[in-house]
Amino acid sequence: MDIQAFRNDTPGCALHNHLNNAGASLQPLPVIQAVQNYLTEESLHGGYEMAAKYAPEIAGFYDSAARLLHAKPHNIAYATSATDAYFRALSSIPFEPGDVLLTTDDDYVSNQIAFLFLQKRFNIKLLRAAKLPEGGVDPQSVKELMEAHQPKLVAVTHVPTNSGLVQDVEAIGQLCQERDVWYLVDACQSAGQMPLDVAKIGCDFLTTTMRKWLRGPRGAGFLYVSDLALGAGFEPIFPDLAGGVWIAHDHYEKEKTAKRYEQWEKNYALVLGTKAAIDYANNLGLDAIEAAVTDLADYARHQLSSLPGVRVLDRGLRQCGIVTAHFEGIAPEAIKKALEAANIHAGIGTTANAYIDFTEKEVTWALRLSPHYFNTKTEIDMAIEALSGIQ
Ligand SMILES: Cc1ncc(COP(=O)(O)O)c(C=O)c1O
Repeated sequence: MDIQAFRNDTPGCALHNHLNNAGASLQPLPVIQAVQNYLTEESLHGGYEMAAKYAPEIAGFYDSAARLLHAKPHNIAYATSATDAYFRALSSIPFEPGDVLLTTDDDYVSNQIAFLFLQKRFNIKLLRAAKLPEGGVDPQSVKELMEAHQPKLVAVTHVPTNSGLVQDVEAIGQLCQERDVWYLVDACQSAGQMPLDVAKIGCDFLTTTMRKWLRGPRGAGFLYVSDLALGAGFEPIFPDLAGGVWIAHDHYEKEKTAKRYEQWEKNYALVLGTKAAIDYANNLGLDAIEAAVTDLADYARHQLSSLPGVRVLDRGLRQCGIVTAHFEGIAPEAIKKALEAANIHAGIGTTANAYIDFTEKEVTWALRLSPHYFNTKTEIDMAIEALSGIQ
């Protein structure tokens, strides 16, 4: 990997030590230019006219996203965030009172809140599988709960927001396929960081955002919907004229492709920025990206654990580019201040972001460093130096 070339392509690299790619990454020039050029043209020539002129490029988004996931373009829907994509998918599962939704302790906070809402409003039953001693969901527990409760949906977050854990989504996908159970995967923190293959995962839905590891614009995301889910006639609450065609007084016909999950109105500058970002990742290769990210994250974990009073919190058999640590006896504000003074970007998570995980780890907050492939070990060293002097 020519790290310097990627840094030259990323204007923000010259300004900051950006170790907050799990929050929002820095965009490379092709993304910045795609968004800015479209907005300029749109402001001069009209929104509908520009959408028509750029129709082939806009259609190219579906090809690019499909290539990223090893899917087909008709399985892809555009969304305005990972949560938007996720809620559209979740809303399309025809839950009945008493139905079981099986998830994990490490699923994303907003997903957990939505499950709890479904439990409250529609009387579904929420179950969470047990963990392995090393951390991460135990596929055997998933299997046993599936056999005992026949869930309508299994929902797993591939990489949680709050730790470096990578869940074994393929093993759970196989269990779902063997039992014809609908399977929803939140790939918000894995897309753009590691290879994703929806056939290997065996999921019916997979959702992601653009601003994180994919290095795209904010306010954009997308969704994969399997042929099986499309064929079952699932629709999100509420389809609009992108999701259906009004053909009679009291009748509309469903859109055949995953565009059934979209809304008609879109910010096409962001669609083109999204396409540029996915192309950038596809051209680089997700295997190479994962290798570079994992190398930096392992290095950061090693360096952090050598600091007195610092506990690295990441668990699980497989770990990725999210590095979390707790500093005994130090206030998170002091960490923020020290990093800010050294021009270093990082995240701080709290119990509200990961209630079960943080409660079990007996912490109320954690520092999150998330290096991308364009970061360097020197930048990690600078962060360690800034963190080592905190009182
Ligand atoms: C694992 C995971 N899922 C979903 C989301 C939500 O993404 P968005 O803010 O784009 O809706 C996040 C955001 O941090 C996340 O980390």
